[in-house]
Amino acid sequence: MQLDTRTLNQQRQRVGDDESVWLFGYGSLIWKADFPYLERRRAFIRGWERRFWQGSHDHRGTPEAPGRVVTLIASPGTVCHGMAYRITGETLKPLDIREKNGYLRELTTLTFDDGSQDEGLVYLATEENPAYLGDAPLDAIAAHIDRAHGPSGANREYLLNLAGALRKLGIDDPHTFALADRVKGQDAIN
Ligand code: BEZ
Repeated sequence: MQLDTRTLNQQRQRVGDDESVWLFGYGSLIWKADFPYLERRRAFIRGWERRFWQGSHDHRGTPEAPGRVVTLIASPGTVCHGMAYRITGETLKPLDIREKNGYLRELTTLTFDDGSQDEGLVYLATEENPAYLGDAPLDAIAAHIDRAHGPSGANREYLLNLAGALRKLGIDDPHTFALADRVKGQDAIN
């Protein structure tokens, strides 16, 4: 089931069309920034880890056969590295529409590579949203991703693009890399 978060997100942190805000990207936003931005900086947020635990009904899967995409799970003492974009409120609006399937915007503290900090937004899909899939054995998650397709393309492409982008940035992410290795291993078998 889809949770249409468009209205909820627009009511959460109001950002005027001409105001700017940092948006922290930890998933497709790392490798696919197909929107205008004022600045782009590497950043991390504390207390969160990336996991392929969110179901995708509208991008990398369908309501009948959801794909698996990333969300963040609370993990005290750890950090999640990604990419931050300073964008206008005008740019944020269409992102709320595009990422409407269960992701709610939260306000968080971003730390940039030079150690400076600022407040910013991050899209989070918690276990309360109906599309949430949660944990499963890595082999099962990899097999799931390997077979899922949606309007935005193959789920495996999302995983491999993210793994490639993280490797290029020198970001270690054992969960994503283990899944990417398994999906690539499937190619050798098939
Ligand atoms: C991200 O890359 O941070 C992201 C993209 C879409 C939905 C949620 C998060």
